[in-house]
Amino acid sequence: MAFENILREDREGIAFITVNRPDKLNALNNATIGELVAAFDAVAADERVRAVILTGAGNKAFVAGADIAELAKQTAITARPLALRGQRLMNTVEACPKPVVAAVNGYALGGGCELALACHIRTASDNAQFGLPEVTLGIIPGYGGTQRLPRIVGKGRALELILTAQRVGAEEALRIGLVNKVFPAAALLAETETMVRRVLGMGPVAVRFALDAVNHGSDMPLQDGLNFEATFFGLLAGTEDCREGMRAFLEKRPPKFAGQ
Ligand code: CAA
Repeated sequence: MAFENILREDREGIAFITVNRPDKLNALNNATIGELVAAFDAVAADERVRAVILTGAGNKAFVAGADIAELAKQTAITARPLALRGQRLMNTVEACPKPVVAAVNGYALGGGCELALACHIRTASDNAQFGLPEVTLGIIPGYGGTQRLPRIVGKGRALELILTAQRVGAEEALRIGLVNKVFPAAALLAETETMVRRVLGMGPVAVRFALDAVNHGSDMPLQDGLNFEATFFGLLAGTEDCREGMRAFLEKRPPKFAGQ
């Protein structure tokens, strides 16, 4: 599929997806949301892809939010389906069966912050800025921010960010657990790739099940989540990767996982 608003480049098992509207600070218009859903559906189904790194074009923004020019035209009738469509994108990213890392290279505001929140891990450049400025526009975060942000940074901090619309820089985002790592801007993609390549060295089935257990388990009551975890643990014990991982440890050599 040919895209107009995003780029996809694959390198040795990693799909690099770049939101590519730098003149609009990569704002998520309707077309971009559709292309991102299609791209994530495609990488989920593509056996050659084992992980995704998501970033924004240019050196200023990851994604500066939903496209305000489009938002300004919404009515009480059209805005709900628009929010649900954006949420569908975020759900698709979060449910991706392969690790998805947001490499946040500048502004991640509104829908851009929500997109980063839907990714499994977030890295940031030292000049990144995060925020949910929706209340300054008379709206609230509509692409999952009111639900995912408190789950990641806690209710009090999430409400502070949402109600004050205050932006936080990369170091503060790191301090409150909004991002996992901060790198100098010029090194962001390379360092993020190094992190992802480390994951690709692990047992592929274990990585997939760990992702599934954390993703689905966090929406379950604790006992159901624990049961889910034990089921995956049992399934993994029957894999060739598990036998190889343990054999390699005992033989004091690195494992060679076949993903089976
Ligand atoms: N939507 C549409 N266009 C946007 C945009 C957005 N979210 N953010 C930036 N742009 C456009 C600007 O309109 C401008 O376009 P023109 O050159 O054609 O005028 C271009 O990108 C460059 O932006 P600025 O000139 O504003 O750049 P700046 O460096 O002065 O400021 C900024 C950068 C602080 C990020 C500022 O652009 C800004 O505040 N953007 C809006 C951020 C925002 O409010 N995001 C939330 C949107 S609402 C939302 O996301 C709802 C939801 O949850 C679903």
